[in-house]
Parts: sequence; C-alpha cells; structure tokens
Amino acid sequence: MKTAVYPGSFDPVTNGHLDIINRAAFLFDRLIVAVVRNPGKAPLFPMEERVALLQEVLAAHRNIEVQSFNGLLVDFAEKTGSSVIVKGLRALSDFDFEYQMALMNKKLKPSLETIFLMTSENFAFLSSSSVREIASLGGRVKGLVPSNVEKALASKFRNRKGMARGQDVAKD
Ligand code: PNS
Repeated sequence: MKTAVYPGSFDPVTNGHLDIINRAAFLFDRLIVAVVRNPGKAPLFPMEERVALLQEVLAAHRNIEVQSFNGLLVDFAEKTGSSVIVKGLRALSDFDFEYQMALMNKKLKPSLETIFLMTSENFAFLSSSSVREIASLGGRVKGLVPSNVEKALASKFRNRKGMARGQDVAKD
C-alpha cells in the first residue's frame, strides 16, 4: 500500500488545498493530511479546530486521514509508513522555499521522496493568509474556502468585533 503525506498549517484549509488533496488521493492508496504546529506562526485557528474543519470536509473520502503532529515531518512520515511527501506549487515564488525544504527532507531521510503538484490555475492566487486577511476586513470568502470554513471565519471575526466593541465600551 502506497501512503503519502500532505503537510501544512491549514490555517484555514482553502479550496486550493482541497484541489491538491483530491488529486493526491487519486494517486495514492492512502493520503494523510498532516496539520503541523508551526512554532514560527501564531495561528488564527487552534490546531484542534484546523483538524476538525479538515475532517468535516474530507469525511466522505475513504483513503484520506487527517492527523496532526509536532516535530519533524520526516519522523512523522516514518511513523505513519509514508514514502512520499506531497506539496502544492502555486507560482515560481513558492519554488525556492519548497526546493530547499525538499532537499533538506531528502538529506534527513533519503528514502522519502517529495513530489509537487501544480495548483489548478483557478487557485493560483489563493492562500490561507489572503483568506484570513479578507475575512478579517469583512470581505467575502465564498468560493475560496469550503462552507464550514466560511462559517468558522465569520464566527471568529464576529466574536472578535464583539470583543473589540466590548473593550471600547469598557474604556468609555
Ligand atoms: O502550510 P505551511 O505553513 O506552508 O507548511 C509548512 C510545513 C508545515 C510543511 C513545514 O513547515 C514543515 O514541514 N514543518 C515540519 C517541521 C520540519 O520537518 N521542518 C524541517 C523542514 S526542512
């Protein structure tokens, strides 16, 4: 059985990620979507919520699992029996960083291959960070993210506005 791992922060998952996930799941017997705690980034959604949103969207796919991990990706791949890392590439600007990571992971575990899937052109402009920014400024994210993420973003920023209003009131 050929297992692959698709790692990322997924803060939150976008339709661009789902495009890569669906195509990778077609290529492998088992695909593990691995939600990573990235110490360099303060996430909008806590790890548990990122996992839950992905699990909800991917519930119907029998060969896809959602897991989370801390630590090195190569160690997680070994533990889960994954022989391939799947990454999505949007533009040339992604390439430098992804190339470095692929070479470093190869150095750490030579038997582990990284493969890149080109993002479908509809999603070439899409990133979790732009989705977070649009939602935080009250813009529409319909069509950019699955509907459960759309709701979660609306609720997150509604609550934040409520809290900010509450703080203003308290200050007055
Ligand atoms: O969605 P992101 O934040 O661009 O994903 C980056 C990620 C999580 C894939 C990368 O940071 C990663 O693999 N982290 C795990 C820690 C690790 O193995 N670091 C060494 C990479 S060379």
